[in-house]
Amino acid sequence: MSEATALAHPNVALSKYWGKRAGAGNYPAVPSLSVTLSGLATRTHVRFDGSLAEDRLRLNAADALGGEGPRDGRETSGEPRARVIELLDRVRRAAGERRRAAVDSCNDFPTASGLASSASGFAALALAAVRAAGLDWDATRVSDLARRSSASAARSVFGGFVELDAGAVSPSVDEVLAARPVAPRGHMPLAIVVAVTTAASKSVGSSDGMRRTMERSPYAQAWLREAPRLHGLLRDALLARDLEKLGELSEASALAMHACAIAAGVTYWNGGTLEALATVAALRRSGTLAYATIDAGPHVKVLARPEDVMLVRRALEATAGVTRVIEASPGDGARLAPQPGAEPAS
Ligand code: PMV
Repeated sequence: MSEATALAHPNVALSKYWGKRAGAGNYPAVPSLSVTLSGLATRTHVRFDGSLAEDRLRLNAADALGGEGPRDGRETSGEPRARVIELLDRVRRAAGERRRAAVDSCNDFPTASGLASSASGFAALALAAVRAAGLDWDATRVSDLARRSSASAARSVFGGFVELDAGAVSPSVDEVLAARPVAPRGHMPLAIVVAVTTAASKSVGSSDGMRRTMERSPYAQAWLREAPRLHGLLRDALLARDLEKLGELSEASALAMHACAIAAGVTYWNGGTLEALATVAALRRSGTLAYATIDAGPHVKVLARPEDVMLVRRALEATAGVTRVIEASPGDGARLAPQPGAEPAS
C-alpha cells in the first residue's frame, strides 16, 4: 500500500535560526539548537494514488485522520500547497514515483501563529511521504528533506535537544545538511510553558521576515556574528545542565533576533508579548527561574523547572493579553503512526 501516516511535534529554538545563506536550497546562515515538544502534534497522512490527476492537500483534516481537532478540512491551494508539492516532487524523483498524492494533515494547536507548525508539519510530511513512496531513508535523510522546505522542520525529525548547523559558506554547494540530536529528552528537567497571545495567523511568514531582515536591518551583520557565538555558549550550558545559563542565553538569542528584525520593520510581537515578557522578568525578580523565548510569532515560551510550572502558569494566566497557556516538556522525534482505522504501522 503506498500510504503512510506520521506524527511530529513542534520545537522551540533556544538558539535561533534567522537568515538564510545566499543561493538556493534553503540553507540557514546561522546554527540553531532547539527542544522538541511533547503535548502538541501534527499528524499527516500521505497516499500516492494513480487515480488522482493532481496533488491534493487538506489541512485541518481531523475527520480524515480519525483524531481530535478542528473538522473543517478544506482543499488547500496557493503557497502552502505549492510548498507541499515541492517536497512531494523531491520524493517522487528519488523514488521513481509518478503518481500524484493525497495529503491530509491536522494540528492540535493554532496553525501559522509562531507555534512552529511548519516545523512539525514538514517533519511529519517528509517522513510520511518518504515511507509512502517506499524509500528506506534514515532520519538524517528525512531531516535533510524536511530542511529544504523549512529549516526548523529538520530539527523536529529528532526528539529531545537538537542542533542544526549553518550551511557551508559557498552558495554553489548542494550538501546534505540534516539536524542531529545533542541530548535526549530526559537530559535535564525542563518545562516549556507557552503563553498564547492570539489565535490569529501571523502576518509575515518566517522566510519573508528573514529576507526583509537581512535586506533592511542595520543590525543584520551583527546578528550573523552574534548568533553562532550565543549558540556555542548555549550548547555548553545545555551539556552542563545549567538551566540558569541556558535560560539567559535563550532569552538573549530571542531578543537579539527580534531586535534585528524589528529594526527592519518586521515585528511579530503584540501587546501580550510585552506583558508576558514583563511577567517573566517579575518571576525572576521573585526568585523563580523563568526565561522567555519567542519565535516568528507573538507567543512567549517560558523555560522553567518542572516544579515551578504551576507558579509560572498562574502568573501567565493573570497576564493581560495572554489568551491561553499550554504546558509542554521535551518530546520525541517524528515517527510513523497508525493509519486511520488500522493497526499500528511499523
Ligand atoms: O524554519 P522556519 O522557516 O519555520 O523558520 C524558523 C524561524 C524561527 O522559528 C524564528 C527560529 C527557529 O530556529 O526555529
